[in-house]
Amino acid sequence: AGGLVVAVDGPGGSGKSTVSRQIARQLRLRYLDTGAMYRAITQVALDRRIDIEDPVAVAEVAERTVLTIGTDPDQSTIHVDGVNLDEQIRTRAVTNAVSAIAAVPAVRARLVAQQREIIAESLAAGGIVVEGRDIGSVVAPEAPVKVFLTASTEVRALRRSRQLGEKGVDDVARTLAELDRRDALDSSRTVDPLSIPEGAIVLDSSTLSVSEVVDEVMRRSEHLL
Ligand code: C5P
Repeated sequence: AGGLVVAVDGPGGSGKSTVSRQIARQLRLRYLDTGAMYRAITQVALDRRIDIEDPVAVAEVAERTVLTIGTDPDQSTIHVDGVNLDEQIRTRAVTNAVSAIAAVPAVRARLVAQQREIIAESLAAGGIVVEGRDIGSVVAPEAPVKVFLTASTEVRALRRSRQLGEKGVDDVARTLAELDRRDALDSSRTVDPLSIPEGAIVLDSSTLSVSEVVDEVMRRSEHLL
C-alpha cells in the first residue's frame, strides 16, 4: 500500500488545524503541524536571546536543536531537547517572530527534511495529513490531495483573537494588523513563499463551515485509501 498524503496549506487563521485534524481522525491518518516546528525553533531562538534578524545565528539554532513532534491528531505534542513546548509556541511573542525565522533557508532545509522523513514513516501506517505553507508546493508536491484553505482577513483575525481569549475591538484590530504583517512576510519571502500549489483545490472558510470544508476534502480523499 502506498499510503495517502493530504497537503493542507493556507494563511494564518484560515482553519487549517481544525480541518486537518478532523480529516486525519475521520480517515485514521496521522497528522503533522509543520507550523509548530517553525514556532518551536523560534521559541528556542527567543529563549537564547538570539538576534532573530541574523540568519547565521538563527541557522545555528536550528542546526543544534533536536526537535520531536507527535503525529496523533488528538494530541500532537512538540519537544525540544526533551522539553515540552506545546503552550509556549502559541504566545504572541513567538507568533510575531516566527516569520523571520521561517524565512531563513537553512532553517527551512532542515525542517523540510525532517517533515519528509515523518511523511515517509507515516505512509506504511496509511498516510498523513500535513498542514503548513509550502506542503503542496515543496514538502510533498506529489501529494494526491492538495487543499489551499483561505478566508477573509477579518474572519481570520476574529478567529485568532478568539483563540487568544481576547474580547475588545482594539485587540481584534491589533491581531488583524499582526496577521496582515505575518501573511505579507510569509507570502513575499524568497524561499518557498506561501502560494497556491499547482493542482490544489481552493476552499474559502469565510463562506464554508468547518464540516463543509471537511466533507469536500473527504469526498476527494476517501476513494484514494
Ligand atoms: O501555521 P502556523 O500559524 O502555526 O505557522 C507559523 C509560521 O510558521 C507561519 O507564519 C510561517 O512563517 C511559518 N511556516 C512556514 N512553513 C510552513 C509552516 C509554517 O514557513 N510549512
